Amino acid sequence: MQTLIKDIKELAGVERTPQRRKQGKEMAVLETVEDAYLLLEDGAVKAFGPMSECPEGADREVSAKGRMVLPSFCDSHTHIVYARSRELEFVDKIRGLSYEEIAKHGGGILNSAKATAMASEEELYDMAWQRLDEVMRMGTGAIEIKSGYGLSTESELKMLRVIRRLKEHSPMTIKANFLGAHGIPMEYRGHQKDYVDLVINEMLPRVADEGLADFIDVFCDQGFFTVEDTERILTAGLKYGLRPKIHANEMAVSGGVQVGVKYNAISVDHLEQMGDAEIECLKGSETMPTVLPGCAFFLSLPLSPARRMIDAGLPVAMASDYNPGTSPSGNMQLILSMACIRYRLTPEEALNATTLNTAYAMDVSGEVGSIAVGKKANFYITKPIPSLAYMPYAYGENKVERVFLNGVEV
Ligand code: NIG
Ligand code: FE
Repeated sequence: MQTLIKDIKELAGVERTPQRRKQGKEMAVLETVEDAYLLLEDGAVKAFGPMSECPEGADREVSAKGRMVLPSFCDSHTHIVYARSRELEFVDKIRGLSYEEIAKHGGGILNSAKATAMASEEELYDMAWQRLDEVMRMGTGAIEIKSGYGLSTESELKMLRVIRRLKEHSPMTIKANFLGAHGIPMEYRGHQKDYVDLVINEMLPRVADEGLADFIDVFCDQGFFTVEDTERILTAGLKYGLRPKIHANEMAVSGGVQVGVKYNAISVDHLEQMGDAEIECLKGSETMPTVLPGCAFFLSLPLSPARRMIDAGLPVAMASDYNPGTSPSGNMQLILSMACIRYRLTPEEALNATTLNTAYAMDVSGEVGSIAVGKKANFYITKPIPSLAYMPYAYGENKVERVFLNGVEV
């Protein structure tokens, strides 16, 4: 079955020679074809080029006149399996409490853990499915989803089974990340080493046994898990073949970046607190620095030095961090706008940061993240828009009109 998308005003994010990721100056390059066609076959990209070379005889034709076509966003950091929103804490924050203070008093992640424990797998699945559907219609085609609101063996497994069911039923490309070390349950306060033991000795073997995770995560930060805790968990995870993909340097220069690089994490995420040593340490590594603009916006945190990292030759990815506590939105169009407006990335850099580089950060850049022959046909057709820069410029407006995943309109 062949589908032809024709008369595309501009087809952006194509790659003739696909790269695993883009770094430094390469990030400013986003190849496009004006007045283009895109041919799909059996769920994959078969060919693309100028309309003057457009093939004939496709089974189905779709006109994209006046519209742009872009590769679907890849959102490499989310926590969309959760049972309840947390707007009361949001109000507490407006009144002056910090994220860390709320967490210390049993709010925050522990609040979500309580709600998760009470919810059934079915309820969690239905809620997560709705969120997934919503972000899919706003242009996201691949997504990483974490556990971490369980904090007990049964609840962590429940969350990961929900993610497995989402993988089975959604047309999106989904990766699961086991985040047993997200918060320290109240009963382990003062002896958190015992909780780390539980993660390593009880949770991890069951997670691995059921094949429920693609990655392993730790919230390595001040007030949460130490570098030593993180090393123990990552070492144990590697024995089960789980590559690290961790939370680092949100609250403090915590050593999270260094420990991530040391254990060859596929990404270190947040990075609001970065010194020169952290930037140096990422150079030459396989670890993708991932910035979460929605979290910094929602918590009024300092901005991660994304511009400085790119100027230093590093790659940068940007994801939504969709979760009820620090970023209650998975709108990647908004992340694209924030990348340009707040972090001074150009539209081309911002698009690379939210597509190819986030695909790398979830180990799927060989199959999604750009429009390339043989990759999954995952893209969206915009509403009629004047130019590529309009995508980040018109923040708050939904520019996505039609979504195709695996070559099929959803
Ligand atoms: O990425 N920083 C740690 N974890 C999440 C927040 C989780 C929550 O507050 O529910 C984050 O921001
Ligand atoms: Fe997170």
